[in-house]
Amino acid sequence: MILPLPLPIPSPIYIPRPPSTLLTSKNTNQPKSPSQNFLSFLLNFYLSLQYSLLFLLSLLPSIILVHTMTTHIEDNLWVLALASKCTQENIAWSLLIMASLWLTMTLFYWSHPGGPAWGKYYSTWRKTKSSPSGSSDHIIIINKNIPIPGPKGFPFIGSMSLMSSLAHHRIAAAAQSCKATRLMAFSLGDTRAIVTCNPDVAKEILNSSVFADRPVKESAYSLMFNRAIGFAPYGVYWRTLRRIAATHLFCPKQIKASETQRVDVANQMIELFKNRHSHGGSFSVRQVLKRASLNNMMWSVFGQRYKIEEVSGMEEELSGLVEQGYDLLGTLNWGDHLPWLKDFDLQKIRFTCSKLVPKVNRFVGSIIADHRAHTTQSNRDFVHVLLSLHGPDKLSDPDMIAVLWEMIFRGTDTVAVLIEWILARMVLHPEVQRKVQEELDTVVGGCGARAVTEEDMAAMVYLPAVVKEVLRLHPPGPLLSWARLAITDTTIDGYHVPAGTTAMVNMWAISRDPHVWRDPLEFMPERFVAGEGEPEFSVLGSDLRLAPFGSGRRTCPGKSLGLATVSFWVARLLQEFEFLPCDDGKNGVDLTEVLRLSCEMANPLTVKVRPRRGLSL
Ligand code: HEM
Repeated sequence: MILPLPLPIPSPIYIPRPPSTLLTSKNTNQPKSPSQNFLSFLLNFYLSLQYSLLFLLSLLPSIILVHTMTTHIEDNLWVLALASKCTQENIAWSLLIMASLWLTMTLFYWSHPGGPAWGKYYSTWRKTKSSPSGSSDHIIIINKNIPIPGPKGFPFIGSMSLMSSLAHHRIAAAAQSCKATRLMAFSLGDTRAIVTCNPDVAKEILNSSVFADRPVKESAYSLMFNRAIGFAPYGVYWRTLRRIAATHLFCPKQIKASETQRVDVANQMIELFKNRHSHGGSFSVRQVLKRASLNNMMWSVFGQRYKIEEVSGMEEELSGLVEQGYDLLGTLNWGDHLPWLKDFDLQKIRFTCSKLVPKVNRFVGSIIADHRAHTTQSNRDFVHVLLSLHGPDKLSDPDMIAVLWEMIFRGTDTVAVLIEWILARMVLHPEVQRKVQEELDTVVGGCGARAVTEEDMAAMVYLPAVVKEVLRLHPPGPLLSWARLAITDTTIDGYHVPAGTTAMVNMWAISRDPHVWRDPLEFMPERFVAGEGEPEFSVLGSDLRLAPFGSGRRTCPGKSLGLATVSFWVARLLQEFEFLPCDDGKNGVDLTEVLRLSCEMANPLTVKVRPRRGLSL
C-alpha cells in the first residue's frame, strides 16, 4: 500500500498570541499590569534600602575617625570604643547584607521564565521600549519585556541538566511541559539559549543570516576547530573555507570521481562480513562500519588507501585521536557556561585537549610534509588541493591541519552511525529489507547478476525512502550537532531574541511530532515514496519537517557526499546479504540511544548474515 507523503503542517508560522506580545499598531509602550508595577516597586525599594544601608555602614568607620581627630580625645574615648565595636559589627553587617543582596539578586534573576541568564537580560532591558520592525504600513511591535516561555531550572546554573545524557529527549519534554514547543528559552549557567521543536520556527532560525555563527565552545577552540569550517566565526575566512571544500571535495564532479574508492571500500566490507559469516554465529557491525568510513575519508582527504582488515599503526592512531575528539566535543563543558568555573578545568577538558592537539599536529603535519615532498603525484587528494592554493585563499599550516582534521572527524562517525541505524531497522523489519532487496534485484536484473553501482541508485525509489525514514527516526544529529549563535538582536516567532543568544533546533522532536507526521513512531518508508506527479521529499534542508543536515548558511557541506556514501554502501550490503537477528534471544537490536557527538545506538548492533549471491567481487 502506498501511503501519502508526510502530512502538511497545519499551523501557520505565527501562532495566535495575546495581543500584548505582538502588537500590530504604532502604539509602542506596553503597559505594565498593576501587579507587575507593585512587584517592581517593592523590589526597587528593597534594593535601594540595602544599598543605602551598605553605603552608610561602610562610611561609618571613617566618620568616627574624623570625628575623633577633630574633638578632644579624653572627652571622646567612647567614640573610639564605639568605632572599634562598630568596625567588627560593620564587617559582619556588610557581609550579611552583601550575602543577602547577592541571594536576592540570584533569586530575582532565577525567577524569570527561562531562568537566570534570561533574568539578567530582562532586568537590564526592563526600561527598554518596544521596537518596531517591518514595513511602515504594517509595523510589528516587538515588546522586549515579554519573556519567551521556558523552564527556570536552578538558581545560578539554570537548566544545565537539560543538556546531560539524551538532551533531545529532555528538551522536548521540557518544551511540552512549559507549553513552549514553538520557542522555549532556557539558561545554561550564564548562557541564554532558545530551542524550537517546530518546523516553521526552525526555518526562521536556521535560514536567518543572524544565526550564521556558532557559540564559542572551549573544546572546539582548543581542538583548533575555530580554524576549520564547523566553528570558524561567520565571515570571510569561513566563506573561503566553504568555497574551497565545495569546489574540491563536495561538488558533484568530485563525488563522482571518488566513486571507485567507495566501491573498493564496499568490497572490503563485504569480504569482511563474509569472513565473519564463515566463522559462524553473530557479530557486531560497528567496528567494520567505522573502519570503512574512516578509510574512505582518509582516502579522499589524505589520498591514502588502507585495508579494513589490516589495521595499520597509523590508522589505529588516527582512529584513537578521532574518538578522543568526539568525547571532548560531545561533553557538556560547565566552564563554557559558568565563567567562574572556567579556570578550574574541573572536567579536565582543557588538559585533555592540550595533550591531544600536539598529537594531531604531528600526525596531520607529517602527512602535509609528505605531500609537499611529492608534489608531482598524479592522484590529487584534498591535501594537494589545499597546498596548491594561492593568493588570499592560501592557508597557513595550522589552518590546513584544522581543516583536514575536521573533514576526517565529521565525515567518519556520521556515515557509520547512520548505516548502523539502517541495518538495525532492516533486522527489525524483515519485510522492508525484502522490499529493498527486490528493488535491487529488479534494478540490476536478478539476484546473481552484477553488483549494484552508484548509477543504479537513480533508478531506486524504495531504498532512498528507507534512508529518509531512518534519518527521520534516528537523525545522527538530533539537535543538529552544533548550535547557532545570534550575531545581532533579532525577532523569532514574534519574540525579541538578543545578540549572543544560543539557538538550537530539536530535529528529533520535529521528526516525531504527531502534528507533523502521521503515526510518527511507526517505521514506514512508504511515506517517502512519492506518488505519480508528486515531488520527492528533500531531506537536504528545504523542508524543515525533516532536515537532518541542517539548513541555511551553516548547513552541512558534506550532505550529498554523506548521502551518496550511505545509500550506496547500504545497497551493496543488502544486495549481498540478508541481515538477520542474532540468536541471543533478544534479537540483537536495542534501539536505545546514546548521545555523544552523534546519536548512536547505545548497544552496538549484533547481527547474523546470510549471503544472497555468490558473485566474485
Ligand atoms: C549522514 C551524514 C551526515 C549528517 C547527518 C550530517 C549532519 C550535519 C549537521 C546537522 C550539521 C550542522 C548543520 C547546521 O548547523 O545547520 C553539519 C555540519 C557540518 N558537516 Fe555534516 N553531516 C553528515 C556528513 C558530513 C560529511 C561526510 C562531512 C565532510 C566530510 C560533513 C562535514 C560537515 C561540516 C564541515 C559541517 C559544519 C558546517 C558549517 O558550520 O559551516 N558532514 N553536519
